[in-house]
Amino acid sequence: MRHEGENPSGRSCDRPNRAMNRASYNAIAAEWDAARTVFFGRERDYLNVLLAGLAGSGCVLDLGCGTGRPIAESVLRRGHQIVGVDQAESLLELARKRFPDGTWLHGEIETFVPERRFHAIVCWDTLFHIDRAAHETLFERFARWLLPGARLMLTVGGSAHPAFVDTMFGQPFFYDSHPPGAVLEMLGRQGFAPLVSELMNPPTSGRDKGRYAIVASRT
Ligand SMILES: C[S@@+](CC[C@H](N)C(=O)[O-])C[C@H]1O[C@@H](n2cnc3c(N)ncnc32)[C@H](O)[C@@H]1O
Repeated sequence: MRHEGENPSGRSCDRPNRAMNRASYNAIAAEWDAARTVFFGRERDYLNVLLAGLAGSGCVLDLGCGTGRPIAESVLRRGHQIVGVDQAESLLELARKRFPDGTWLHGEIETFVPERRFHAIVCWDTLFHIDRAAHETLFERFARWLLPGARLMLTVGGSAHPAFVDTMFGQPFFYDSHPPGAVLEMLGRQGFAPLVSELMNPPTSGRDKGRYAIVASRT
């Protein structure tokens, strides 16, 4: 796998957060695998919008693919190809075993460079694990990695808040996100037009900062 640039944020301080997230996802692989098997809420609808942009069979890049369930699994079932990228070896190993027809690459999104262009990119519940300073550079890369007219499906945080660490299954995870309005502006600057942009779950006054879904077309 070739590498594009070690650190799109230009910062080295996010490396400990990346290492922590990788170790934590590896540590909770069994629990995550049991918990994440099916679509939640309107996730299937968003995937339908993403895949409706494909004329026939296409190749979908899934950044932060986890175990491949349910998104990559559904993409494969519909006759498309999938290239999954994830930093957590334990999750990727499950994807590799379950879905041998997919291409499963171990690596970090921040340094990944694909060998081809794609008909669609999924970055679902993953971008918010990366330092926000890197996000617009990643959007610029996503635009370059997509074929003209291709689509991008992603989630970001649902509110304005500073970066934070929270626990899941007893392990610490780093989270960061621009507020949704700022993300939509960045995507627009990188040539993406939103087809779907909506709050999936609103922020609470407690730990939940909310989650915002976007499906966008590369113009
Ligand atoms: C919340 S899970 C979502 C998994 C999958 N997209 C889904 O919808 O079930 C986040 C995933 O992103 C991966 N991830 C987080 N940061 C990453 C990074 N910088 N590079 C590659 N993978 C990353 C994690 O290992 C984990 O599998």
